[in-house]
Amino acid sequence: MKMLELDKDVVEISSKYGKSKDHLLRILQDLVAKKGYLTEKIVRDLAKDMNISPNEVYSVATFYSFIKTKPTGKYVIRICQTISCDLAGKEEIIKALEKELRIKCGQTTDDMLFTLETTNCMGMCDQGPAMLVNDEVYTKMDSIKAIELIREYKTK
Ligand code: FES
Repeated sequence: MKMLELDKDVVEISSKYGKSKDHLLRILQDLVAKKGYLTEKIVRDLAKDMNISPNEVYSVATFYSFIKTKPTGKYVIRICQTISCDLAGKEEIIKALEKELRIKCGQTTDDMLFTLETTNCMGMCDQGPAMLVNDEVYTKMDSIKAIELIREYKTK
């Protein structure tokens, strides 16, 4: 019987960290950097290669919003949904961006330019509502500022 081949990038990256569970997060980060996002096959191959269950891989991957498990846009917009930012008006920002980008939160625009998501507290609670565009943090946002910002990104 022919053995299904494991993805060679998966094997290479997990070997770099000694296939150790202690380094699972680093392995996943490197895989996302290399592959863009984690497909089901990558998760299965990694679990097999590290001799752990796919669920273990998924539970780490889904805990951290920066570990992508689906294709995302060039710019990933993340609006903080935690209490301070919620009270400061994050919902209006989400609604305004959904309208501007013509997508729902959790979706990606057809041109693959933007993905809109929520995230948990990023430690900017006294300057909320806070949002991220990829690694850039923006604070004291409102719907008008958020739309202006996204229009700037469109022209980058
Ligand atoms: S609650 Fe939004 S940054 Fe802390």
